Amino acid sequence: MINLSNKKILLIICGGISAYKSLEIIRGLKKRGAQVKTILTKSAKKFVTPLSVSSLSQEKIYEDMFDIENESEMDHISLSRWADLILIAPITANTISKLSFGLADDLASTVVLASNKEIYLAPAMNVRMWEHSSTKENLKKLINFGYKIIGPDIGDMACGEFGRGKMTEPNEIIREIEIYFNNKKKNNKFKALITAGPTREYIDPVRFITNRSSGKQGYEIAKSFRDNGFETTLISGITNLDPVPGVKFIKVDTAREMFNETINNLPADVAVFSAAVSDYKVKNYKNEKIKKKESMTLDLEKNVDILANVSKHNSLRPKLTIGFAAETSDLVKNSLKKLEEKSCDWIIANDVSDKSIGFDSEDNQVSIFYKNNTNETLDKMNKSLIAKELVYRVINKLN
Ligand code: CTP
Repeated sequence: MINLSNKKILLIICGGISAYKSLEIIRGLKKRGAQVKTILTKSAKKFVTPLSVSSLSQEKIYEDMFDIENESEMDHISLSRWADLILIAPITANTISKLSFGLADDLASTVVLASNKEIYLAPAMNVRMWEHSSTKENLKKLINFGYKIIGPDIGDMACGEFGRGKMTEPNEIIREIEIYFNNKKKNNKFKALITAGPTREYIDPVRFITNRSSGKQGYEIAKSFRDNGFETTLISGITNLDPVPGVKFIKVDTAREMFNETINNLPADVAVFSAAVSDYKVKNYKNEKIKKKESMTLDLEKNVDILANVSKHNSLRPKLTIGFAAETSDLVKNSLKKLEEKSCDWIIANDVSDKSIGFDSEDNQVSIFYKNNTNETLDKMNKSLIAKELVYRVINKLN
């Protein structure tokens, strides 16, 4: 049993026959020392009583969004801020559908929408509801939002049918939560640094040359390191993305700024260089806007290579240095060349000539080339899942 004292868990109980098992979850979490606050949805109250929940959790129950008494003390925003982790058990097909659309029509859905915390869902429903394409589509969306799904299990159901749809047993749900906090603690000592997005090299005050990059993959990697308990720094060129909460965010413009900030923020245990750094900078920057002429020639010089510099640094080199290779041809050959020339440990390569992956798209398909001459190709998947796969491998390596 793992000690969960100081851990704040917000349990949301939805209306389903397995809601009675949520009382076991509260008992188990309390036994481990966690503080548990509970939200009951309107239909949950038909299955469990507020009195039994508050007796077990030794906390007041939160029910309605506009409960004046509760709202003055702790509103939906502070409730989501308060929690280290939100667990919805059981979650019904209806609430899954609501969350996938970002609805906020009661306290439970509003708290979830307002949260940037780890969210675990333990579904429970009839097997046909579970197998319905609409539930599957909704779940896919929730997984892409980063929500973790526990179960459901296969077995006899209260409705008399047999199949997948039973809520996972309380002990196993608690086990997942223990693993999450344990991993966080284990990785807490680790520091990760990520570069992302494009850099700009100015020609004059209003013009610049840049590289194509949305920054999405790097931001997802930063999120995934944060979620796994790393102290994370994200150094980003200018993108349309919002800073990642819980991550030290440093916005830069030029490659030189990105290089300086990278050095300033080392040492780290792992560094992932996903930025599309401009390979060249303008030799003669003009302080004033250049006026239109018949023709114009730009004189460029090579920019600092951030990854190569860090990888070859005597004292600041992270234990694990990971680069990207964006290629339009000879993916294997060019990636291996970069691995060698930039002295990094791993190269994550993608073929950016494929329009369905890479630039601006939600999906990516990558191969990882390791220093020991092995490599692996991951399936095409959402960028957040690629990030999780990568961070999972980093954790294995560092531990
Ligand atoms: N990189 C970097 N600094 C640079 C150029 C690249 O840190 N000045 C890093 C990128 O963040 C990436 C890796 O090096 O992790 C490879 O970048 P890529 O653009 O694919 O390759 P280049 O080195 O620019 O080589 P080429 O343009 O010839 O493919």
